[in-house]
Amino acid sequence: MINIIGLGPGEFDYITKLGEKLIYSSDILIGGKRNLESVEDFKGEKIVLSTNLKEVLEYIKKNLHKNISVIASGDPSIYGIGKYLSNNIDHKNLNIVSGISSLQYIFSKIFVDMNDIYITSSHGKTPDFDYILSHKKVCMVTDDKIGPHKICKEIQKRNLNKVIVVGENLSYDNERITIGKAEEILEVEKFEMNVVVILDEK
Ligand SMILES: C[S@@+](CC[C@H](N)C(=O)[O-])C[C@H]1O[C@@H](n2cnc3c(N)ncnc32)[C@H](O)[C@@H]1O
Repeated sequence: MINIIGLGPGEFDYITKLGEKLIYSSDILIGGKRNLESVEDFKGEKIVLSTNLKEVLEYIKKNLHKNISVIASGDPSIYGIGKYLSNNIDHKNLNIVSGISSLQYIFSKIFVDMNDIYITSSHGKTPDFDYILSHKKVCMVTDDKIGPHKICKEIQKRNLNKVIVVGENLSYDNERITIGKAEEILEVEKFEMNVVVILDEK
């Protein structure tokens, strides 16, 4: 059986009990370097996932009889490896264990409900900001190219009244949550790994 396990936003305490149990009963653990480091006491074989996605998929397909867990940050079904593996592995061999997404985490920190949110990502694409900013409540996972600064400039271009929340390094010791209007967020020189929430001003 192949498990795809969401680790939660970062700090290992956020993993589900089931996820933890399945990880430690696996023979092989596959995941990004940072994620594998978070289970340093795992005794079995570890395979690092980076740009070798196709090779890892072939490896998994050849080893379906083994007890393999693929670990992913947050929830694997939110801009994670869940989609790729679900599209490429027979579902009878797959077990996805959801985790707490960085998106869920930031909403709990700012005491805003997640009802009717629009979830999107800037990873590897040019976002349609007219469409994104037409929503009342947006949460976006970002990359190095399109992050809080670019989002704020797009808000300013359209003269919109939005409140922006930037959640960096969520659940880690160096977590930082910055809340402000576009001009205030633009004053912050640099943001580390982050999600951005965009809300209509009340
Ligand atoms: C490939 S996506 C994975 C999202 C993940 N599946 C989830 O549910 O949180 C990676 C992006 O998620 C966001 N992210 C993941 N963990 C984060 C954290 N601890 N703090 C802030 N942002 C995080 C960042 O935007 C990062 O670039």
